[in-house]
Amino acid sequence: MSEALELKIVLYPTPILRKPAKPVEAFDEALKATVDAMYELMFESRGVGLAAPQVGLNQRILVLNKKGNPEEPEHNLTLINAKIVGRGGKKALHEEGCLSFPGIYGEIERPERCTVEAVDLQGNAISQEFEGFQSRVIQHEYDHLEGILLVDRLSQADKLRNKPDLQEMVERYRAEQG
Ligand code: CO
Repeated sequence: MSEALELKIVLYPTPILRKPAKPVEAFDEALKATVDAMYELMFESRGVGLAAPQVGLNQRILVLNKKGNPEEPEHNLTLINAKIVGRGGKKALHEEGCLSFPGIYGEIERPERCTVEAVDLQGNAISQEFEGFQSRVIQHEYDHLEGILLVDRLSQADKLRNKPDLQEMVERYRAEQG
């Protein structure tokens, strides 16, 4: 019997958020337990996507549910070792937030479509094009695997507007480190 995993959201500017994540190699019970715990935490946190570095794990694991609703598991999308192999369509602006930046929002420009290659929990290949909101969430979460964060994508105006909150996060992190 394995114990249920207890995961916690890691906040900016914790260094692991800046580390490129490593490919998953073992498709075992531990991976399944991690994915289950990530879904649970994502739904609890009212998120629509969560990347493993955001729970302190340096692995290329993404969980998504574009409805953010545990009652609609048909929208769950688990992407292991995801790669965005193409982006296309018009560039669109849409407001984004991030569980690692509570209270911080900004209009982020991204292409409307993306094509993803990944594997599922069993190691089966996935190759799919996404559009609209789901494409946006995937691109946001994929950034996390590369160590790219919301703050990097903010416009100058949004960066300025959010500056006091970002500074406060840095100070809180420093205080916690002692
Ligand atoms: Co995020």
